[in-house]
Amino acid sequence: MLFLCSILFVVTCNADDYAQRPNIILFLADDLGWNDVGYHGSNQIPTPNIDALAYSGVALHNYYVLPICTPSRAALMTGKYPIHTGMQHGVIYGAEPRGLPLSEKILPQYLKELGYATHLIGKWHLGSYKKEYLPYNRGFDSHTGFITGKIDMYDHTNVERGSWGFDFKRDSDALVSHDLFGVYATDIYTDEATKIIKAHNRSQPLFLMVAHSAVHSGNPYEPIRAPESVIEKFSYIKDRQRQKFAGVLTKLDESIGEVVSSLQSNGLLQNSIIIFSTDNGGAAAGFNSNAASNFPLRGVKNTLWEGGLRGAGALWSPLLTHKNRVATQLLHISDWLPTLYSAAGGNTSVFKNIDGIDQWEALSKDSKSERTTLLHNIDDIWKNGAITVDQWKVVTGTNYDGKWDSWYGPDGREGNYDVELVYNGLAGRAIQELGLMPDKEKIKELREAATVKCKEPASPIECKPLEAPCLFNIEEDPCEQRNLADKHPEVLQRLLKELNRLNATAVPPNNKPLDLNGDPKFWSRIFVNFGDYERSRTIEL
Ligand SMILES: *[C@@H]1O[C@H](CO)[C@@H](O)[C@H](O)[C@H]1NC(C)=O
Ligand SMILES: *[C@@H]1O[C@H](CO)[C@@H](O)[C@H](O)[C@H]1NC(C)=O
Ligand SMILES: *[C@@H]1O[C@H](CO)[C@@H](O)[C@H](O)[C@H]1NC(C)=O
Repeated sequence: MLFLCSILFVVTCNADDYAQRPNIILFLADDLGWNDVGYHGSNQIPTPNIDALAYSGVALHNYYVLPICTPSRAALMTGKYPIHTGMQHGVIYGAEPRGLPLSEKILPQYLKELGYATHLIGKWHLGSYKKEYLPYNRGFDSHTGFITGKIDMYDHTNVERGSWGFDFKRDSDALVSHDLFGVYATDIYTDEATKIIKAHNRSQPLFLMVAHSAVHSGNPYEPIRAPESVIEKFSYIKDRQRQKFAGVLTKLDESIGEVVSSLQSNGLLQNSIIIFSTDNGGAAAGFNSNAASNFPLRGVKNTLWEGGLRGAGALWSPLLTHKNRVATQLLHISDWLPTLYSAAGGNTSVFKNIDGIDQWEALSKDSKSERTTLLHNIDDIWKNGAITVDQWKVVTGTNYDGKWDSWYGPDGREGNYDVELVYNGLAGRAIQELGLMPDKEKIKELREAATVKCKEPASPIECKPLEAPCLFNIEEDPCEQRNLADKHPEVLQRLLKELNRLNATAVPPNNKPLDLNGDPKFWSRIFVNFGDYERSRTIEL
């Protein structure tokens, strides 16, 4: 009897190891466009590792993010619309004395309560002027990366609003990590991620967030940088900026492959949930000196058109009941907090007053999403707003005086799609080891279903968002070519009413004028938590 018990005990121990909460790996790409991933139909720049995750998990077809970085990351971390945290307007600058309000409890803090080890690699961008705003004081055990909005991929400096400073370190190092200087940022992330995975003690579940610099542009002197040997492979791309962009994107895709492969070789993959997501739409056609593509969707980053909001995203996990599909559930970036918490076995009744909805069941079992309304944003400084209810979307106002309201390429449809690359990539091989890669026919079918197609409509109906709100039926017209405001005034009114209802719950944006004291020139050319030190004058934004 005693003997049996000890056998049972051993068996139970092992079973516990596998029954433990899933590891959560969150890959956040920066400024990646809808049409920059291969599974959305472009043949131009292969992304076999990202594609492998999408095909063997679920490709998120109606997945929405905020149009710009800080608001999007704030929604991801808090599960709230940015109008409810004061984060709805623009980004945080390195010399700006504000951050995501400390009253907000965020994703890694919630996961820590479920026993997770929590690590952030890469970009933060949610406030850094005082140390309490930094990742390691907000639930992350470690952070290697940068705190402002962007960096040069090699020298790790940020040129921003007239200042220039170094922004890159491990939080265990003093002010800078000298050994990392000059190393390509994406390679650093890959190395750090694989180190964390290797060193991870499996008695705890792992939450690893890799918030990539790619494919955000860097500084004006050379905005798009990747190793020349990688860029050279894309000599067939005639647009030189897009060719360089291909190098940046390829490095991002390879990094994801290496991390997935490392999860597998360290025995973590089989009990992992992986999210791949962009933070906002792509900076296309020279916007931010970059060369992303949201084709065929309208607009760019920082606009409320689908190209600014509809996010390239995928969810992967052996724990999903219905895999290998294009998920049409309406999903918002704020949904990840309750969704992941729920997938990790947490009780979502801990969340009070969040806007995110637990979508784990809907995504896993392909059941109906509880989300029918999705606020894209309301920004009373830029004077715009947009909301989706069911298949309808209202857009009111626009940015840049309407200069970025058009449709931009490239479509990337020339050439062929090489499925073999998907199987032979590091992610594809790791997933095959778990027996989870679908066959070629299935991949073809999935890719077809994940590709948005828009014809030139026989009768486009112009939208002038600066003059009057526009209404689109996104299901039939994902490219926003037919403004149905006049045709369906009752629908328009219904959505405007909903927009007003949400607007009435908004808190004012918490943007602040820059603090001169925050200029890196006072701090050995380093972006620091200047608010922790005496000295203060303000300059106007
Ligand atoms: C992992 O953590 C457990 C529990 O804290 C500890 O007992 C064990 O020694 C750790 N293993 C390693 C290899 O550090
Ligand atoms: C979740 O927590 C609530 C409130 O504490 C409780 O009523 C409910 O039973 C819990 N649900 C589960 C599944 O434990
Ligand atoms: C939101 O409400 C404010 C007044 O509180 C108003 O100025 C603004 O125009 C409203 N925005 C939208 C998009 O309705």
